[in-house]
Amino acid sequence: MADLDALLAAAIDAMGKSRPTYSQFPVGAAILTEDGRIFSGGNIEVASYPEGWCAETTALSHYVMGQGDTITDICVIAERLPRCTPCGGCRQRLAEFAPPDARLHLCADGAIVKTLTMAEIFPLGFDGDVLTG
Ligand code: THU
Repeated sequence: MADLDALLAAAIDAMGKSRPTYSQFPVGAAILTEDGRIFSGGNIEVASYPEGWCAETTALSHYVMGQGDTITDICVIAERLPRCTPCGGCRQRLAEFAPPDARLHLCADGAIVKTLTMAEIFPLGFDGDVLTG
């Protein structure tokens, strides 16, 4: 559980660094890999509203740039919404990098309160294999 405690702490720390300038809705996400590395991020908003992006996307970009290996766990936390789930676009993004059995941990009051797999939260997602095959 030490890894999960660190993962939750990283998500909370990332939420503190988020820039929800317009929505005032801070979100943090953190990704744990098989070798114990953690990649995190917060949501970042800009004045041209649709150009902002989610916490999960920031965390994923750190994961990709850090050349992280297999994802085992993902933690998402929002200050103002218990059990905040990733939006549809972030489910697609996460599913492209995390295996179906990767665990997604949802939080409330600074603690993990619900865990489900990527396959459970994003069944029948678009499979990009056809684009590369
Ligand atoms: N947001 C996230 O960062 N992750 C989610 O899963 C849901 C929504 C952000 C996007 C925007 O900056 C703010 O929350 C309000 O929608």
